[in-house]
Amino acid sequence: MCGIVGYIGHRDAYPIIIKGLRRLEYRGYDSAGIALYDGEDINLSKTKGKVEDLKKKADKSISTSGALGMGHTRWATHGVPNDVNSHPHYSNSGNLVIIHNGIIENYESIKKELIKRGYTFQSDTDTEVLVNLIEEVKKQEDVKLGKAVQIALNEVVGAYAIAVFDKQKPDEIVVAKLGSPLAIGIGENEYFIASDASPFIEYTNNAVYLEDEEMAIVRLGKEIKLRKIKDDAIAYPNILELKMNIEQIEKGGYDHFMLKEIYEQPRAILDTYRGRLRADQGIIKMAGIDEHLEKFMNANRIIIVACGTSWHAGLVAEYIFEDLARVPVEVEYASEFRYRNPVITNKDVLIAISQSGETADTLAAIKLAKEKGAFVFGVCNVVGSSIARETDAGAYTHAGPEIGVASTKAFTTQITVLTLIALKLAKEKGEFSESKFHEFLTELETIPAKVEKALESNPLVEIISDVYKDATNCLYLGRGYNFPVALEGALKLKEISYIHAEGYPAAEMKHGPIALIDDQMPVFVIATKKGHYEKVVSNIQEIKSRKGKIIAIVTEGDEQVTELADHVIEVPETLESLSPLLTTIPLQLLSYHIAVMRGCNVDQPRNLAKSVTVE
Ligand code: G6P
Repeated sequence: MCGIVGYIGHRDAYPIIIKGLRRLEYRGYDSAGIALYDGEDINLSKTKGKVEDLKKKADKSISTSGALGMGHTRWATHGVPNDVNSHPHYSNSGNLVIIHNGIIENYESIKKELIKRGYTFQSDTDTEVLVNLIEEVKKQEDVKLGKAVQIALNEVVGAYAIAVFDKQKPDEIVVAKLGSPLAIGIGENEYFIASDASPFIEYTNNAVYLEDEEMAIVRLGKEIKLRKIKDDAIAYPNILELKMNIEQIEKGGYDHFMLKEIYEQPRAILDTYRGRLRADQGIIKMAGIDEHLEKFMNANRIIIVACGTSWHAGLVAEYIFEDLARVPVEVEYASEFRYRNPVITNKDVLIAISQSGETADTLAAIKLAKEKGAFVFGVCNVVGSSIARETDAGAYTHAGPEIGVASTKAFTTQITVLTLIALKLAKEKGEFSESKFHEFLTELETIPAKVEKALESNPLVEIISDVYKDATNCLYLGRGYNFPVALEGALKLKEISYIHAEGYPAAEMKHGPIALIDDQMPVFVIATKKGHYEKVVSNIQEIKSRKGKIIAIVTEGDEQVTELADHVIEVPETLESLSPLLTTIPLQLLSYHIAVMRGCNVDQPRNLAKSVTVE
């Protein structure tokens, strides 16, 4: 994810863009850049780091005058965060400038073709390829910028929100959208362009949100012209009157980042498998695995190290790897692993999971495993982070920046990446028939829509939260694939609402926690149809006969548990191994609502930090 801002009008563009970028920093903050047209030329400044660093650099190094410009705050996907890879990017002639939020999946083949035609590239980004493709089309077809953008976009595969201008025609900005958000603010003889409305809300309440596959020519003195990218059909702008304040808009209209991030999961999961999972072709393509397949195929075992929520994703992965790919797996807390003199050989593959890529214990565990000769693979969310750099290979989750301290979309996207790896290994090892492999791939493709459906439980979860918000202890139970979900559900509740909660394997309850059950004790049970259903039903009976309150997460249409439980929350049916991606959703919502009802600081709970860089 990245944030984009553009301005064309009669005011100084520089302060508007800088302020706008600050407001969009939640979308990414590893590097930033700005391009301003001063009436004669383009002045460009870019830097690794935050918008504050950009401002310091630009104040000193460029003329910041001009009423046309655009800026970008980056969350790196292609190319490490550095000055060169930061946006905006120039075309080879220096006439066109672009900012882009998204991923151009087929950029490599386009780049090769452009290189053959004499183009050179400064950065490793997919975006620089796109601006040069636009330039090449403009030249070859002898068309205006808008048309060139349209033709070029019909050649690319991927997701984008882009803004482009041509210094030879400085009265217009061309914008387009597919997958990533893009809003146009309409002022008095001025236009604003941004990833959301927060950069322009104090200047205008009138905005147009582009739909997917739409583009617009934003020209001074003219009304906005909208077109469909595919067939050039005219689209009519739906001008909305915004009623939000700035605070709300930065959180996309949600009260808290955590809730926003919970709701981003369908998109985050899709972004994570986009370009990797090709169900129609029956393949999974992951460079980090493809290039080191032998290491995985010959591994004696996989050791997973992580902390916190990432450790829970590792536990889910243990079930998936062993069940599907038949590889032995051990999951370790990084902090324990690094200090217990573990036996590691060069036949081991170590997978380190980390949202931030900066967790000190996980980093230390990686170093130890490398010293002992293991092959180390990273699953990180933050591009260019220490863990991403330290590992031999890896695969990023594409969750986008996670700001709420309680991890939500990082968890489900980590599981998505790990599932892709396990499926790939299962196929390569001959554990899966073509048809079984295909069944998994197609089901995985339905998950974003099913997560969307699971999110529809929100109003019911809110009602249930109100019933249990004053509990002092809670128990979370699950079996098999859903045992780690029980652990994660309990962690979510305790970290943001400060209620004591424990997660347990449902059957293990009899060996201790059952002593705690009385009519005051809420017990959250994951009881989906596939996966030891009958056994979980017996566990529910055991709780019921001790008067515990049962809140069950069940498969749509469930009857048996529904009869027994005090409350049920339904999630769509899926394969057992994919069920954690759905069952975790109501538990995230539950902890969120309880924390809000108890007046807790949801996004910044006491004593916690988003990234723990000390051991
Ligand atoms: C902190 C965060 C957790 C996170 C854990 C591991 O405790 O508050 O949300 O799960 O660190 O962080 P990592 O960035 O390595 O996933």
